Amino acid sequence: MIFVNFKTYEQGTGADAIRLVKILEEVAHASQIKIIPVVQAADVREMVATTQLEVWSQHVDPVEFGAHTGFILAEAVVEDGASGTFLNHSEHKFSDFGTLEKAHARALEVGLKTLIFAGNLSELKLILKLNPTFASYEPPELVGSKTTSVAQSKPEAIAEAVEITKAKGLPLIVGAGIKSREDVRKSLELGAVGVAVASDIVTAKDPKEEILDLVEGFE
Ligand code: G3P
Repeated sequence: MIFVNFKTYEQGTGADAIRLVKILEEVAHASQIKIIPVVQAADVREMVATTQLEVWSQHVDPVEFGAHTGFILAEAVVEDGASGTFLNHSEHKFSDFGTLEKAHARALEVGLKTLIFAGNLSELKLILKLNPTFASYEPPELVGSKTTSVAQSKPEAIAEAVEITKAKGLPLIVGAGIKSREDVRKSLELGAVGVAVASDIVTAKDPKEEILDLVEGFE
């Protein structure tokens, strides 16, 4: 499976996000590889109206109905049709474990699947206590890398992350700098169930060519 994180890239926002999700859907159907667009909360409803793919939110906050100006309410993304949410991405980390725990509990309460990011192996051990649907190992220093990837630079860490998550019976997603079928193949060989990717697809001149290349890694 491939999580495509649209972040707040211009090409992953609003009307451009609709164009991108159509490409992802076409490739997912043709390849039969599960592709999950992970979009800004503001775009969830439009994405869900556009695609048959599962649509995820990039974040929800640990808040309930009430006075919380500007926060992302779990109920709101569910009402818009989101199936799941990322939590604790290195670009949107919770200040402490207790806050992550509360946000995760909120996501579960409303029926969202969850993917919690860890930037290193000790954080991975910690987040597994929450029993997310997916755990992700994504070293922040490699996010957005044009020259390397987590699969190329940290295969031993991926293997260890697989051991740690398997011991808890949870599936591991890896991300950071993923940009080729070789990166995907290596990640799967090491025991990950899929990858999280952003810049290689969202900012590509030809996103279809890039996603087609990544799905080849599953063959
Ligand atoms: O959520 C995945 C994302 O952070 C990876 O970003 O640009 O390294 O593929 P990128």
